[in-house]
Amino acid sequence: MEIIIQPDPAAASAMAARIIARLIGDDRRAVLGLATGKTPLGLYAELVRMHREEDLDFGRVTTFNLDEYVGLPPEHPASYHSFMTEHLFRHVNIDRTRAFVPDGMTEDIPACCSRYERAIRESGGIDLQVLGIGRQGHIGFNEPSSSLASRTRIKTLTETTRADNAEEFGGMENVPRHVLTMGIGTILDSKACLLLATGKQKAAAVAMAVEGPVSAMVPASALQLHEHATVLVDEEAASELRLADYYRHVLEHKPEWQRP
Ligand code: PGA
Repeated sequence: MEIIIQPDPAAASAMAARIIARLIGDDRRAVLGLATGKTPLGLYAELVRMHREEDLDFGRVTTFNLDEYVGLPPEHPASYHSFMTEHLFRHVNIDRTRAFVPDGMTEDIPACCSRYERAIRESGGIDLQVLGIGRQGHIGFNEPSSSLASRTRIKTLTETTRADNAEEFGGMENVPRHVLTMGIGTILDSKACLLLATGKQKAAAVAMAVEGPVSAMVPASALQLHEHATVLVDEEAASELRLADYYRHVLEHKPEWQRP
């Protein structure tokens, strides 16, 4: 894994945006896997700025979001459809027919999940999957004990995750219990993964994911099995990493051509 420590969330977001912009610049048909939550807000703001000021072109880009709540219509303000529209899609020239988010309103969940997997495959596969991390180590909504081979499916949220997401719903009692999420196997099929984490409240999860054993109890630890996984964190989220000085040393001495 490549561990990159940046001084603060703004620097981490700017670097993530540069990595994505470079990918889109090299391949205008790039397929991006996208995440929601508070962490990627700075990244999306920076991509929108690059689109406006530097002509970053999303015209041929395809995107697949990680997850969606079951039972929320796309127009619900707390749905991830709404989140993506609000923070990225309506500000850039993306073709909305190629911006996929799981359908939380489907009447046939297994068929809908299979179609999502098929759509990812038919797009040629995800070039770069952006990920956040939950306090208990989830990626997407793959909560602890998720199969490391799992595919897109329904999951039941832990109460910790429901509490963490309560704000968007005006109270925990309104947070759905079920979600559709890409599986860990789906995520690991991406050609590259970029996990973003900022803030002290993520430090323990980041340390377990990066330096702990690979375990279904910490779904993000599955990224240790991926050939091209980058973990991009700020100082606070890095604060429990035992080898932090080594990761800084690696970044400092990277050959120019390898620099993010
Ligand atoms: P957050 O969520 O960015 O809102 O902390 C991350 C996640 O749950 O994956």
